Amino acid sequence: MGASGAGVDGVMDPDREEGGERRVPARACDSAPVRLLFVCLGNICRSPTAEGVMRSLVEREGLRDSIQLESAGTGAWHVGSAPDERATAAALARGVELEGRARQVRPEDFDDFDLLLAMDGENLRELRRLAPGEEQRAKVRLLREFDPAGADVSGDLDVPDPYYGGAGGFDEVFELVQAACEGLLEQIRPRA
Ligand code: 4NP
Repeated sequence: MGASGAGVDGVMDPDREEGGERRVPARACDSAPVRLLFVCLGNICRSPTAEGVMRSLVEREGLRDSIQLESAGTGAWHVGSAPDERATAAALARGVELEGRARQVRPEDFDDFDLLLAMDGENLRELRRLAPGEEQRAKVRLLREFDPAGADVSGDLDVPDPYYGGAGGFDEVFELVQAACEGLLEQIRPRA
């Protein structure tokens, strides 16, 4: 992936740049697409927003062949549902279309994706619990670890669950996810 920088999990890798640790797991081959799975609880609010934001960044930069995206939920309540209309409205107001239908995380996701990007600590813990082994567990990260602005003063890296709140929560989700996706794209962008 050609990524570099201070690691967030402390795992050193021979591909790291001098003096640094890599933030993202190595792919089998540098020409293979990077595969990202965005994960929240219901897969109708936060992770479809992250998928839509990242897809629009990827399209804008002509990276469609290099970065593949999906989203999923740890829960099954909304399987088959379209994204929540409040999330859809917040995204559309910023020029991003949300698409797809909710699905639940599957065991094979841990092998099919390079990074599983959790929206909050609860999603992170659940994904780590579901991961079949250490190699797969290392692919599970908090999306906001990639926000260059980092945690707020409380050290919180969650994208807050907006489902039971008002419309403002969906605006906040969009802003947090956008900053993190821009940071993530810098980490995984193919090097010339
Ligand atoms: P999401 O939001 O995890 O961002 O999709 C939620 C959607 C539905 C529920 C909770 C969170 N729910 O409890 O049904």
